[in-house]
Amino acid sequence: MSVSVSMNRNSGRSRMLKVVLLGDGKVGKSSLMNRYVCNKFDSQSFHTIGVEFLNKEIFVDDQTYTIQIWDTAGQERFKSLRTPFYRGSDCCLLTFSVDDEQSFRNLNAWKEEFLYYSDVPDSACFPFIVIGNKIDLVNRTVTREKAASWCEENDMPYFETSAKDNMNVETAFVAAVKRFKELEGKMDTRHKPTSETINLRTKKSDDGGCC
Ligand code: GTP
Ligand code: MG
Repeated sequence: MSVSVSMNRNSGRSRMLKVVLLGDGKVGKSSLMNRYVCNKFDSQSFHTIGVEFLNKEIFVDDQTYTIQIWDTAGQERFKSLRTPFYRGSDCCLLTFSVDDEQSFRNLNAWKEEFLYYSDVPDSACFPFIVIGNKIDLVNRTVTREKAASWCEENDMPYFETSAKDNMNVETAFVAAVKRFKELEGKMDTRHKPTSETINLRTKKSDDGGCC
C-alpha cells in the first residue's frame, strides 16, 4: 500500500482535523493541496498512487487547527488503496473540474463511496464541501449555476477554485474547518473526530514537508 507522508511544523497546541480530498483523477486534488500547503503549482503533476498527506496549521475563529489533508488517488484502479484511509475523517472535500462534466456527475458516487468506507455514524450531519476546480480555463462545461444548484439540493457549501492561479484555494480549506465546526455539535457522540489522525508531533525530524 502506498502512503507517503510529509508535514509542516506544528506548535503542538492545535486541534487536529482530518480532511479528505476525493474526486475523479486529474480534477486537481493534489494541485489544490500543494497550492494550499506549499503555495506551488506543477503543470505536469503525475497522478497520485494510493494516498499522500500534508499538515497545515491555521487559525479559525479563535482556535488553532492543524488540518491533516489527505490527498487520494482518483483513478478507479487505486480504489482499494485509498478507501482504508477514509475512517476517522472530520471533513470531506468532493472535487470536480469545471471542464469535465463527468467528474461533476460522479460527485454523488464519491459521496457514497466515502460514506460506505468511512463508516461515519451520522451521515446526515457529516461535513462535505464541494470544490469546482480549474476555473482559470476558458472551456468550462459545468456552469456555476448548475454546480451550485446540486450543492444546494445536497446541503453542501460550494467553492470554485483555481489551483493554478491560486484563486479561492485558502477560502475553500478554511470553509471546510468552519463547516466542521458548524456540524460538529450535531454529530453523533459515538463519532470520535480526531482519534484516527496520525500525530507526527513526536517525530524528531525538522522536515518542512514539501515547502
Ligand atoms: P489523481 O492524482 O490522478 O487523482 O489526479 P488529481 O486530482 O490529483 O489531479 P492533479 O492535481 O494531479 O492535476 C491534474 C492536472 O490538472 C495536472 O496537469 C495539473 O497541472 C492540472 N491542474 C490542476 N489544477 C488546475 C487548475 O486549477 N487549473 C488548470 N488549468 N490546471 C490544473
Ligand atoms: Mg493526485
